[in-house]
Amino acid sequence: MNGEIEGPASGYNRTMKVMVGVSGGIAAYKAAEVVRALQRHALEVRVTMTQAATRFVQPLTFAALSGHRVMTSLWEMPTDASPDAPIDHIAEAQWADLLVVAPATADILARFAHGLADDFLTTMYLATSAPVVVAPAMNSVMWEHAATQANVEMLRRRGVRIVEPDAGPLACGMVGPGRMAEPEQIANAVLNALGRSHDLAGEVVLITAGGTREALDPVRFLGNRSSGKMGYALAEAAQSRGARVILVTGPSALHPPIHCEVVRVTTAEEMRQAVLARQAEATLVIKSAAVADYRPVVVAEQKLRRQGPMTLELLPTEDILAEVVRRRRPGQLIVGFAAETEDTVEQGRAKLLRKGADAIVVNDVGREEIGFDSDHNAATFLTLSTAIDLPFMPKRKLADRVLDEVVALRRPQSLLVELSSTELELQREMPVREGSSVQQDETALRESAAPRRKALMIE
Ligand SMILES: Cc1cc2nc3c(=O)[nH]c(=O)nc-3n(C[C@H](O)[C@H](O)[C@H](O)COP(=O)(O)O)c2cc1C
Repeated sequence: MNGEIEGPASGYNRTMKVMVGVSGGIAAYKAAEVVRALQRHALEVRVTMTQAATRFVQPLTFAALSGHRVMTSLWEMPTDASPDAPIDHIAEAQWADLLVVAPATADILARFAHGLADDFLTTMYLATSAPVVVAPAMNSVMWEHAATQANVEMLRRRGVRIVEPDAGPLACGMVGPGRMAEPEQIANAVLNALGRSHDLAGEVVLITAGGTREALDPVRFLGNRSSGKMGYALAEAAQSRGARVILVTGPSALHPPIHCEVVRVTTAEEMRQAVLARQAEATLVIKSAAVADYRPVVVAEQKLRRQGPMTLELLPTEDILAEVVRRRRPGQLIVGFAAETEDTVEQGRAKLLRKGADAIVVNDVGREEIGFDSDHNAATFLTLSTAIDLPFMPKRKLADRVLDEVVALRRPQSLLVELSSTELELQREMPVREGSSVQQDETALRESAAPRRKALMIE
């Protein structure tokens, strides 16, 4: 339904797959939080538990969280498995892009270190070539024992990443090192091991995607060829880089990325209202939707019949990007998209100047192999002072390249390069406020520069 907010959906762009191994320590209950933290970063998660772990937490908890069967034994076969189905621990080992064990008991560290393969988790560990992360948790005497430390060292030398336990009060009543690291810290270690950047942590990104539809009568509409693929790829990329994402989308056949908040709209006016309603929350707005420029003056109440030639009268829709720029809140970055069919860079630059956005991503939708409904795209990332070529590549990769450039805009150096010398003078005249941080200074600089920059643009 229009304007309705959806919870997380599944199935789209689950690019990285993580197997969470849970071994039998008190901290097994915290593994549920580790699963949630990984899912928040748009990772697909499955869980395997040691027999001892099932004494602490029910596999059902992890089955419900992950939406998958939880492997607890080498010997159980799914009832529907065909005789030629791959043996599970091998299949799961090949499925996973990464194995993380949280909590990792002293026992599991020892079995990994010595190559024992006497249950599902240890067998999978030997059978995978994916990176392995372990988050030990145990009593501090066990942790500091020479045997445990030697095992940890052996694993470290083999490339296993150790998320060191924290020091503090332990479940056994002792105080010392051995408490499992926080779930978010474990998720960060996983992201690092996967080579994922986490540079949008703490940001709220409002993304528009897809095309809008303007009704002509109860069954027909004026629409466009936008599939939503670019916007959905941006949502997935922003989320996997740590941002909270609000995705305002026109009708699209795609499943939105998991864990982003989805607001569905149909018309340009609905998109405008949804965007303005959520703009204040956002630190970054990316407008990649293909919004109708015109809407019919009259929407027929009944289905239109064929009656010879027909002329449609259209009215321009509101310019959402311009309105978003007018309502920009301090520090908010605004990036627009321009789909052009000729003189792409010149048209994009004109749009950038006209609208006052921080950047425009301009793409040539006239090229057949890129643009609407294609899985690939090529674009130019335009700011007032730069034109960065983003050559032909998958949309998901392009989404990350666009975000790389957006993140670079946040850095004070690039902000300074972008500002004219007059603006820099303004900055020098700005009083230094007590307690202002780098971020606040940057925000203030941006605020003070914004009207000036706009004036320069109008000139
Ligand atoms: C109540 C209780 C709590 C335990 N907590 C831990 C723990 O925090 N860390 C640990 O390494 N072992 C702990 N153990 C011991 C492990 O459960 C035991 O070594 C077991 O064999 C581990 O099996 P697994 O590594 O296959 O999961 C605990 C045992 C009990 C009974």
